[in-house]
This record gives sequence, structure tokens and C-alpha cells, in this order.
Amino acid sequence: MSDSEAASEKLWGGRFGKSTEKLMEQFNASIGFDQRLYKVDIEGSRAQAKALTRIGVLAEKERDEVIAGLDQVEAELDADDLPLTDDLEDIHMAVEKRLIELVGDAGAKIHTGRSRNDQVALDERLYFRQVIDETVGRIDGLMQVLLNSAEEHIDVILPGYTHVQQAQPIRFGHYTMALFWMLERDRGRFVDSGKRADAMPLGAGALAGSAYPVDREFVRETLGFARVTDNSIDSVSDRDYFLEFMSAAAILMGHLSRFCEDVIMWSSSEFGFVELDDAFSTGSSMMPQKKNPDSLELVRGKTGRVYGNLMSLLTVMKAIPLTYAKDMQEDKEPFFDTVDTLQISLDVFAGAWDTMTVKGERMEAALDGMILATDLADYLVRKGVPFRTSHRIVGELVRKALDRGIRLEALDMETLHAASDVFDDDIKTVLSPVQSTAQRNLYGGTGRESVAKQIEAGNKLLIDRNGRVVE
Ligand code: ARG
Repeated sequence: MSDSEAASEKLWGGRFGKSTEKLMEQFNASIGFDQRLYKVDIEGSRAQAKALTRIGVLAEKERDEVIAGLDQVEAELDADDLPLTDDLEDIHMAVEKRLIELVGDAGAKIHTGRSRNDQVALDERLYFRQVIDETVGRIDGLMQVLLNSAEEHIDVILPGYTHVQQAQPIRFGHYTMALFWMLERDRGRFVDSGKRADAMPLGAGALAGSAYPVDREFVRETLGFARVTDNSIDSVSDRDYFLEFMSAAAILMGHLSRFCEDVIMWSSSEFGFVELDDAFSTGSSMMPQKKNPDSLELVRGKTGRVYGNLMSLLTVMKAIPLTYAKDMQEDKEPFFDTVDTLQISLDVFAGAWDTMTVKGERMEAALDGMILATDLADYLVRKGVPFRTSHRIVGELVRKALDRGIRLEALDMETLHAASDVFDDDIKTVLSPVQSTAQRNLYGGTGRESVAKQIEAGNKLLIDRNGRVVE
């Protein structure tokens, strides 16, 4: 084979006098990772074949051949029967090349008026739709796990922390529902990005628009998009949908990482608040007694790569001159990695949470002797003492209790009276963890009734949605 013959093996090889350097072929190829787009690529080409038939570029017979050919390419790829080697460059070229092998000239017409620039944008948006559905489904699954857990452990009281210092008693169900609402916002971000991405770019061609009067509205409807994109230049330049997904994923992973951190600490022998199930833990190669919370450590750790992927694509996209440049092929690996990492992290986190043992007695026993200080101050306020004054009085009482090495609620009446004469016997009924939470029964607070209301609101949200993506 001469050099120019070798070059024309490529679908774009006509103007080349020399074959591609092996090294360059390897460097240029995206087929190693964009092969996961093959189904949507073929779906897009079916719609393209139909659209070309409507404007007379393909005869009906040719269309049928092309569609049968595409079916066969899909079957071959399903069965792993088509070798996807670097010389094929990317999945778009691989599918087209095989189609032409199978059906000849009819296949050679499929790329009329189309560029890989609008083709890849179409494939990505089709794939994106599936990814959003899967991701949202997994978020819903985790939200359900959290809801069940909150319901089950509504009566467990544990120390709530600020600055990792004990602050006030809270209900475990209340803590759990905090993540539920974070995920509700995360979910909204994914659904929103899905809506913005729901526009059909085919017909943009390389950048200026197809020279053939393709009925874009027909393609849109065939592929089930909400609208067509408005500007061919923007259509081939846009990767906002990936950036939005990766931003939403980064925020979500950040949320999970904070809960991982708490639960990892809580599973230590010092805390002993929870015990992860054996099924979501691993052992040590050396220390026989160890049971490590690797599931949650890995979710926490993988947050790093999800942030990194976002930074990577933001950096790739920065300052790329309009419209398309090959830099943009670098969008896929960080995006796919984010999808995979996010999805498995959601599943693992849900499994670990669902199966962990919540040790209510340990949590209550850990409430330190000063945790009811705010309740003591609030007591004085209810008796008419200005808050700032009561804060100082209680501060002094805290000091005394610490000096004597006793709990705040163990201070005798004499000491209390010396601090303020409004103290009365009813103080005994106020100073308990359950009473402390009961004082906070406004909606959103840690009182039993308000936590129950919150759970009810969450439950209604999930039921209304019925497990499907709705607005
Ligand atoms: N593999 C390419 C990518 O993912 C497809 C688009 C190629 N377009 C081009 N004009 N070379 O970006």
C-alpha cells in the first residue's frame, strides 16, 4: 500500500498524502472512552437518515438499508464483535465506517450536511438525558433511605456540635434529615441542568449550519428533545451541560463528604455512636481487631477527584476560540469519571447508611455536663431576665459546675439562688435533653413534633414524585 493509499483508509483521508504517525493516532483517538456513546450515536444517525430522506438526499430504499445497517452495527457493538481500534479515531467514525462497509453508497450519504461537531454535541446531549435520569433516581433512593432512618431514630438524642464542640442536644432524625434537604437541592440542580441541556443541536453542521434544508423540528421530535438549539455556533461550542453536571456533582459529593466525616468519627471506639455493617467495612492486613469504615472514607476521598474533574473541564474550556477545537474532546473523560464516581458513591453511601447500627444509648451517654447551658439561660429569660444578663449568670454557673466537677443540672438550689433569685423548683423539669429538644418545636427545629413534621414533608415530596423525574 502506498502512503496516500494508507492515508485514504481514513474517512477524511482524501487530502492527505501520508498516513498518520502511530503516536499521533494514539494521541488523537477518543474511541477508547467515547465508545460508551455508541448507542446514542446510532440513535442520532437513525434520525439523521430519516431527516435526509425527507429532503430527498436518501431514497426510501436507501434509508431502509441504512437503518438496517445501523441496527447491525449496534448488534455487533452490543456483542462486542466490532474491534474498536485507535485507527478508527472515535465512535462516530467507527460507526460510519462500519455502516459504509455494510451498506455501501447509502451509508456513505449519512454524513451529508452533518459534522462530527454537531454529531458529538447531539450524542452528548442524548447521553446526558440518561445520566440525569439515573442520577436523579439514585438521589431519590438515598433520600428514601434517609427518610426511613430519620423515622426509625426520631427518639434518639445525641450531642449536636459546632466547632466540633458539644453545643445542644439534637434528635438523630433531625440530623439525618439535614442531608435529605441538601440532596433535595442537589437533585434540583441536576434536574435543572437536564432541562437546559434538552435542546437538539443537529443541523448546526461544523459551525455555520447544514447546507441542506434538514427539518430540525422533525429531528427534535424523533429524538424527543424539548426544543432545538437556536444558534449553530453556540451549538458546537457549548459544553455547559457537562460543566453544570460536574458542578452539581461536586456540591453533592461535598455534602456526602461531611456526613462521611461525622460517621467515620462516630464509628471510632471513642465515640461509638454508630457501627457500620460488616458488609460496608473492611479489615486490616495486619491488625486482626480492625474494622475500618472504608466505604465512607472512599466516598469522602472520591470527592477530591470529582472536584478535580470539574476544574479540569473548566480549565479546558477556558479561552477556547469559537467554535470547536480538539481541546473539547477532553470533555469526556472527566465527565464520564464524574458520572461513574458519583453514581457508585451514592449507592455505597446509601448502603452504608441503611445498614449501620445507631447506638442511641451511647449517643445519650455522651451528652456532656454543660450541654444544657442554653436551656438554663432560656429558663431565666422566660422568667423575665434579659438574655445578655442570663448568658452571664449561666456562664458563671458553668464555671462553678466545672470547678466542682459536676454536671450543670446537678448544681444545688442554694448555688442557683445565689446566682439569681428567679430560680425555682420547676428548673428540675427543664433541665433534661428531652425537654431541651421539646423547647425547640418550631418548624425546622429539633423538637419531636417538628422533626416528625419535617419527615412528613419529606415523605410527601417523595410520594408526589412517585420515583420519577418531575418538576
Ligand atoms: N472525537 C471528537 C470529540 O470528541 C469528535 C468531534 C471531532 N470534530 C472535529 N472537527 N475533529 O470532540
